[in-house]
Amino acid sequence: MRLENVLVIGGSGFIGRHLAAALVRRGIRVTVPTRRSERAKHLTLLPTVNVVQTDVFAPGILERLATGCQAVFNLAGILHGRRGRRDERGPNDYGPDFARVHVELPQAIARACRAAGVRRLLHVSAVGASPDAPSEYLRSKGIGEQAVLATDDLEVTVFRPSVVFGPEDRFLNQFAQLSRFLPVLAVPCPQATFAHYPGLTVIMPATSQLAPPSDVRKRTRELSLLPVEPP
Ligand SMILES: NC(=O)c1ccc[n+]([C@@H]2O[C@H](COP(=O)([O-])OP(=O)(O)OC[C@H]3O[C@@H](n4cnc5c(N)ncnc54)[C@H](OP(=O)(O)O)[C@@H]3O)[C@@H](O)[C@H]2O)c1
Repeated sequence: MRLENVLVIGGSGFIGRHLAAALVRRGIRVTVPTRRSERAKHLTLLPTVNVVQTDVFAPGILERLATGCQAVFNLAGILHGRRGRRDERGPNDYGPDFARVHVELPQAIARACRAAGVRRLLHVSAVGASPDAPSEYLRSKGIGEQAVLATDDLEVTVFRPSVVFGPEDRFLNQFAQLSRFLPVLAVPCPQATFAHYPGLTVIMPATSQLAPPSDVRKRTRELSLLPVEPP
């Protein structure tokens, strides 16, 4: 199948900008929904990217955006949310914000793919994601993964990156900024060494996975740091 149009939900973020650029280099038209087009203005410089300011949770929007696409990427994610209650299973286990973005949105995306006739779904989760993981982030990611993998009529690939870093990431750049002012920085893993490799992201394997898997229909890819061509 020839790839001409791809929808990238969460495409305005750090990984999404590299993914969009990589797709454009392959001659693909890319649609990126965002809650605030201001946040995605860097993408408007790319020739075949269409930034759409919208609410992806509004009824019918995802289906409309996915119509005419051959593949949909889901990169939407948050790092912080209102706390849940571990004593209650279900959404209360990880709080309403993680539930909305990491569970309800992937479910809605899978439904929209089906309704729009898109068979290929590429979903970005996180390494360690599991319904039993210790953090709310990883538990909600684990349930979201299960939701997309449970679909038996879509060709799904789940990517499970560890920390992804590059020029615009939030995580390591916060460390870099702090290190300018603080003489000592405490890191959770004292053996960790932080290096900075511009353009090092998960995008290359993600784009090379655009074609549906030929052997098995659903695959989960654990990704650590992997090199790509520079953005
Ligand atoms: N960066 C890493 O090191 C890393 C590691 C492991 C896994 N991941 C996963 O990879 C994915 C992309 O990460 P990233 O670093 O590129 O994230 P990011 O820069 O924070 O971007 C997050 C994206 O999610 C969208 N989003 C957040 N909340 C939303 C909501 N309520 N409704 C609609 N869209 C929403 C944002 O869209 P708006 O334009 O609307 O704000 C934005 O495009 C995430 O799923 C993340 O969990 C990242």
